[in-house]
Amino acid sequence: MSDSIDTGKRRFLTAAASVVGGAGVVAVAIPFVSSIAPSAKAEAAGAPVQIDISQLEPGQLLTVEWRGKPVWIFRRTTEVLENLTSLDDQLRDPQSEIDQQPEYCQNETRSIREELMVMVGICTHLGCSPTYRPEIAPEDLGAEWKGGFFCPCHGSRFDLAGRVFQGVPAPTNLEVPPYHFQGDNVVIVGEHAQGAA
Ligand code: FES
Repeated sequence: MSDSIDTGKRRFLTAAASVVGGAGVVAVAIPFVSSIAPSAKAEAAGAPVQIDISQLEPGQLLTVEWRGKPVWIFRRTTEVLENLTSLDDQLRDPQSEIDQQPEYCQNETRSIREELMVMVGICTHLGCSPTYRPEIAPEDLGAEWKGGFFCPCHGSRFDLAGRVFQGVPAPTNLEVPPYHFQGDNVVIVGEHAQGAA
């Protein structure tokens, strides 16, 4: 297994490297050229991060770093979107009532564009980074598993909108950071769109 595949350990990769995939698929982030990237100092202070998502295929997940945290950006398939609504009765906060996302993501898919999910890849239990497990019903996660994130530290489970399942240690859904789009293919993580909260 190459270093660019997410093995579920407590580490993550930056956009400058490359990224994750379920069945050995690797999405490649296209970093912005250095002349327009924020300075290292600005980044450390939490400046927004721009990510080109034009190469991100359905099912692929990209990890970028924002404020020292891993942020996942992944493209959901139609099947994933259909499965989301069927999970509600197994979740702790299916309607995202707890304040773990900006207002503009307090909706069924916890996103601005339903196919594109953006969230902080840190477990809300004790801060490990969960593993992306998009496959359906893998042996180790059981027949009911419809794809999601599994935290290897204490077994918390989240769906592909970052909503936490009942009966696991994590108390809340995964956090959705402020973000917005610039055109079709650029996501700005760390900043609301003008006028949004
Ligand atoms: S840190 Fe994820 S389950 Fe404990």
